[in-house]
Order: sequence, then structure tokens, then C-alpha cells
Amino acid sequence: DASDIEKGTYAHYMLKEMDEQPAVIRNIIQHYQNENGDIELTEGVRSLVSEADRIYIVACGTSYHAGLVGKQLIERVAGVPTEVHVASEFGYNMPLLTEKPLFLFISQSGETADSRAVLVEVKKRGYKALTLTNVAGSTLSREANETMLLHAGPEIAVASTKAYTAQIAVLAILAYDIARANGKKLPFDLMTELARVATIMDSVMAQKEIFEQLADKFLKESRNAFFLGRGMDSYVGLEGALKLKEISYIQAEGYPGGELKHGPIALIEDGTPVITLVSQPNTHLNIRGNIKEVVARGAVACTISMEGMEHESDSFVLPRVEPLLTPLVTVLPLQLISYYAALARDCDVDKPRNLAKSVTVE
Ligand code: G6P
Repeated sequence: DASDIEKGTYAHYMLKEMDEQPAVIRNIIQHYQNENGDIELTEGVRSLVSEADRIYIVACGTSYHAGLVGKQLIERVAGVPTEVHVASEFGYNMPLLTEKPLFLFISQSGETADSRAVLVEVKKRGYKALTLTNVAGSTLSREANETMLLHAGPEIAVASTKAYTAQIAVLAILAYDIARANGKKLPFDLMTELARVATIMDSVMAQKEIFEQLADKFLKESRNAFFLGRGMDSYVGLEGALKLKEISYIQAEGYPGGELKHGPIALIEDGTPVITLVSQPNTHLNIRGNIKEVVARGAVACTISMEGMEHESDSFVLPRVEPLLTPLVTVLPLQLISYYAALARDCDVDKPRNLAKSVTVE
């Protein structure tokens, strides 16, 4: 429906698409559950994953970052070994493959040339592939054995937002379905928690002015910025850094907190913005130590934490979410901060220089 992709009253597609995220999560819940509230995947998808002894995720850009989270979900919930690869590297750097590999392509558009090239190669070798995409009928969907759709609606802004959260939600559903099939004990009720996540997303999106102020305060005039986190938070930090560099042209790096001392701390000066996520109960004390280290060297700290791990001086505190699903909510402040930083710097948010929505050449 063409009216679906109108900007309406929104200044930018990116803002509209960020706002759609709670509805997308609800849509995904609906599409992937049956009348009894149980997860339902097609028989085709179920038989593909049940045969696999290892999953090889292949993706680019934001979809790759969703893949990093997906690996954690599949390994920790379903217990299936999973690797994540950047598509463009895969061709000449192919890892050792197990006997029954399953290739999992993650692509918003389903048209990214680097991922398509890998799919052609793995099919030539007789391996099976599953594609997670937002576009039914896209090349990666048609050419793989099976498809899982993101149900996120058209994404127009070059900087991907709702596709990322949709990918993570669908990966969680996939991980749960594999776990159930393998008789694993499920850590929590996924569909209930996803519904709660959607409500929390609504509340974050209702507080946009806070992130506009943070962007003005921390990023309007800065040359560079760092994103820190540990575990899940470090993957979301990579996505935060990518968002910021894509649309505001600020040089941004995402690092796991523990790596700080092995290089990036040399770049901390008076006024360097350091944006840190604190949402993981098993590492929150360590990451607090990292914040102290950078502040002692002059950094200005913008800290996004989660209830139960918060400090008085934090910039924003998110309601508590299951540790495996925190990326669905921790990414929102980072998307919003990037958006408002780009606006404050007069950048073309929806069409950043040198970038394309879908890169169809290798
Ligand atoms: C381009 C876009 C990114 C996107 C990447 C992968 O670089 O600008 O936003 O993450 O391609 O795209 P895909 O459609 O395969 O997810």
C-alpha cells in the first residue's frame, strides 16, 4: 500500500520508522504465534534448522549487527553453535564448515550483492540456506530454501532502524523454536516479554526531547564519539556507532569495555563524548569501571542504563528487560541520539552522502 510509505506528518522517514518499532514488534508477535499463543514456524523452516549442526550467519551493515545478537540468542537459548560473518569477507575467507551447516542470511532488502554472492557459492556447494528479510520475493528470499519475513513494513531511510529491531525479534523467535524442538528449558516466556518490550519502546519514543537534549549537549560540536558496552551492550554499541557515523558524519567507534585499555583510551581527551550502555547484570560493575577510567581522562559520559543497575548521574534509565532481549530497547536511545545529532549538524538524515539503502554491487 503506497500510503504506508508516506512520511505523513513526520519530518523524516527515519523518525517515522523509529516510531513504528513498537507496532512492528506487535506485528511480529501476531505473525509468529498461533491461536494458543505458541510460536509457529513453517515446516520448511523447522526441518531446515533441525538438520543443522551449526549455523553460519551472513550479513552486512546493520543486519550484521543484528546477527551478532542473533548468535548469542541461538547459542544461549537453543544451544546450537553459531558464527557470524560479514558477507564481503566470507568469499575469500571461508571458515571451516561442519558436516551439516545451515546458512542464515539476514538482509533488510534481500538484495545486497555481497550476501547474494555468498548464497550463490554455498548453493553451488549443495548447502541449505534460510533468509531473514523484510522483502518477500527479494533475490535472497527467492534463492534460499526458506524465508522468514520481518513484517516491518517498507524501510525507506538509508539508516536502518526498525529492520534491526525486527531482525532481533525474529531471531529470538527462531532461537526459541529451535530450543523447544530440542527439548531445552526456555529461560522466560518470549512472546509475553516481547509484548512488554513493545510497551517499553512506546515509553522511550514518548520521551524524544530527552535524546534531542543529549545529542545537543554531547554531539553537536564533537569530532568523534565512543560507544562502550559489554556483552550484548557492546554489539548494540557497534550499531550506535554505525548509526551516528552514517547520518551525522561524526567519527564514531564502538568498543567492548574491556578493550578500552588496549588502544581507544589513547584518544580520550577533554570533552570526548563516551556513550555507554549498562544493561547487563553480569557486567554492569565492570562497565562502570570503564566509565570512571574515561571520565578521569576528561571524557564526558552519556550513560544509558537499566533499572536495578542505574546511578544517579545517568542520562537515561530504561525499564528492566530480560538480559537476552535488551538490544531491542537499548538501541532506541542510540538511534534517537544519532537522529538528533544529525539534525543539529544540518545533515540530510534520510539520504546521507555516499551511502545507498541497498548496495547491489559487490
Ligand atoms: C546498506 C545500508 C545499511 C544496511 C546494509 C545491509 O549499507 O545503507 O543500512 O544495513 O546495506 O543491507 P541489507 O538490506 O542487506 O540489510
